Amino acid sequence: MSQQFVGINGEQTGLGFTNRDQGAKVEEDQGLIDFKIITNNGNHERMKMLIDLKNIFARQLPKMPKEYIVRLVFDRNHESMCIVKDDTKVIGGICYRKYPTQRFAEIAFLAITANLQVKGYGTRLMNKFKEHIQKQDVEYLLTYADNYAIGYFRKQGFYQEIKMHPDRWKGFIKDYDGGTLMECYVHPSIDYGNISDLIREQKQLMIDMIKKLTLNDRVYPGIEKQNYKMETSNGDRPAVKPESVQGIMESGWTIEDYNELKKQKEKTFMISCQQIIDTMRKHKSAWPFLEPVNKDDVPDYYDVITDPIDIKTIEKKLQNNQYTSKDLFIKDVKRIFINCRNYNQPDTIYYKCANELERTIDDYLKKLKDESQIPGVSKKIKKTNNK
Ligand code: COA
Repeated sequence: MSQQFVGINGEQTGLGFTNRDQGAKVEEDQGLIDFKIITNNGNHERMKMLIDLKNIFARQLPKMPKEYIVRLVFDRNHESMCIVKDDTKVIGGICYRKYPTQRFAEIAFLAITANLQVKGYGTRLMNKFKEHIQKQDVEYLLTYADNYAIGYFRKQGFYQEIKMHPDRWKGFIKDYDGGTLMECYVHPSIDYGNISDLIREQKQLMIDMIKKLTLNDRVYPGIEKQNYKMETSNGDRPAVKPESVQGIMESGWTIEDYNELKKQKEKTFMISCQQIIDTMRKHKSAWPFLEPVNKDDVPDYYDVITDPIDIKTIEKKLQNNQYTSKDLFIKDVKRIFINCRNYNQPDTIYYKCANELERTIDDYLKKLKDESQIPGVSKKIKKTNNK
């Protein structure tokens, strides 16, 4: 697993975490950008900044009536947080109104100038805004987001589910047609100014803790292709010893456990096959297939059928451990019916018996095929991995 982190230009983190506002934070630390709270207080320089911000809002929110933007930005109940570059140039901002008695604030407008969008300034602005508003004893933020902005707000911790009691906000803010009301809880003890670092550190901590509990982060080279068969259903002998495969012993695998599971598997296999043989033998249509065909009774049988088989022979083979895989056993059982239909005509009693017995036994064969190759193996590995 790679473990780098992301910066403003979108480098990979490898942690599934985008440190989106990192670049803007660096600019802020270097004094290249600043976050200023501005109100309509008559100060010439500040007024100029408000005008610049109003122009950004007007350009970035073309559906919003310009007069409405002007009215709110210059309204003395509203404040704005501007991102100011090189001390003078406004590159974005957020206009909001606090409702101190209700301990919430409503975001009216938020925008970043066009050529600087999706570079992390929007996230940094929101984090700085939360850091500021937290000190003003604000508990919730509300905003009406249009369809384009829902995604952005969602990433900043806003939800469509409003947790604040309606008495606290209804009647204080105006409904906005076509907008979706979203809410964000401002946690009193989160350091929003450093939240990206905080999340990254917490994520790293979790990864380190998980690493201590599992071995999943260790990756070894695979087995050479020509050696990969360790045990196969058609009985191939191992070409490579499991214990020689890197990582297997570390995972808690032991040859004793493996042999025990193998023994268990063989026992289960024997029991299942014997049950199928017993079921066949008891079936009313099994009588033609119980024993090998007598050459004296059917002189040309062995000329036609070159690979004869019957229930008694199958049982003998099973007891002699000749079935090294399920497939070999299933193939032999199926051969009883195939041979019968090859030798006999469809209107004979033998042909009909083969069809009838096959119908019954097919379900048992399917069940045998679906049974796990090594019963309990996955359970065992899980347990030893989480020691
Ligand atoms: N829809 C969905 N996701 C958006 C988005 C949008 N409209 N705008 C940005 N995002 C995503 C970014 O891809 C990024 O995701 P990531 O962290 O997973 O990569 C994340 O939101 C934040 O990106 P960031 O670069 O910090 O945002 P930004 O500087 O582009 O600012 C806006 C975001 C919305 C302020 C800016 O795009 C903008 O000014 N838009 C036009 C005005 C507007 O719609 N304002 C909101 C309603 S008032």
